[in-house]
Amino acid sequence: MSIKLEIIKNEDELYTRALEIFQNELAKGSNTFGLATGGTMVPLYEKMAASDIDFSKCNSFNLDEYVGLPASHPESYVSFMKTNLFSKKPFAHSELPNGEAADPVAEAAQYEEKLRNAQLDFQLLGIGENGHIGFNEPGTPFDAPTHVVELTQSTREANARFFNSIDEVPTKAITMGISSIARAKTVLLIAVGEKKRDALHALINGEATVEVPVTALKDHQDFIVLTDLDL
Ligand code: GLP
Repeated sequence: MSIKLEIIKNEDELYTRALEIFQNELAKGSNTFGLATGGTMVPLYEKMAASDIDFSKCNSFNLDEYVGLPASHPESYVSFMKTNLFSKKPFAHSELPNGEAADPVAEAAQYEEKLRNAQLDFQLLGIGENGHIGFNEPGTPFDAPTHVVELTQSTREANARFFNSIDEVPTKAITMGISSIARAKTVLLIAVGEKKRDALHALINGEATVEVPVTALKDHQDFIVLTDLDL
């Protein structure tokens, strides 16, 4: 299957299109959504908040969460989701991995079990500069389920902008695995800005390789890529 690549140079139009894709999913009857965090998602969630979109009968599962960061920390992903989306557009039920679990490995296994029982209709994805999806760093096997990861230095550096210093960026996270993501019936990846060019180029023009985790989705049956980058 080929990737459905949509290049929209104007950022506002790009996010309007992303909102439309969500509305089409709802119209089709999709009700289990995988959600993502990161700066890329902020304008989308703003558009959702300002729209009449209604998730009140839907369920959501987030991709990932830092390990060891209190849920109340403003940079925990559960805080991010509450601030940017859930406080304005609540879902009937929302799940994120619990980054404060006493046993993160067991928490990851339980999260995978919940995902398997739920079956995602749709997964929203951002992309890391190194091609990571969720927190699946380069080298992660494509068949990985939800698991605990050691974050790479480059990912911690990229995310340090949200913290006072890099020392505050957690070193571990729980992330849906590549196989958990790929099971979603439809996947929408949003990549905005020059920093994502290399990763996107590898996705569109390169071979599938564990060195660039997003390339695992090259053969996905319904994969939309929305970007402002000419490739
Ligand atoms: C984090 C998240 C990813 C996200 C990536 C890119 O590492 N775990 O899910 O795609 O950041 O973030 P941004 O959109 O801020 O560039």
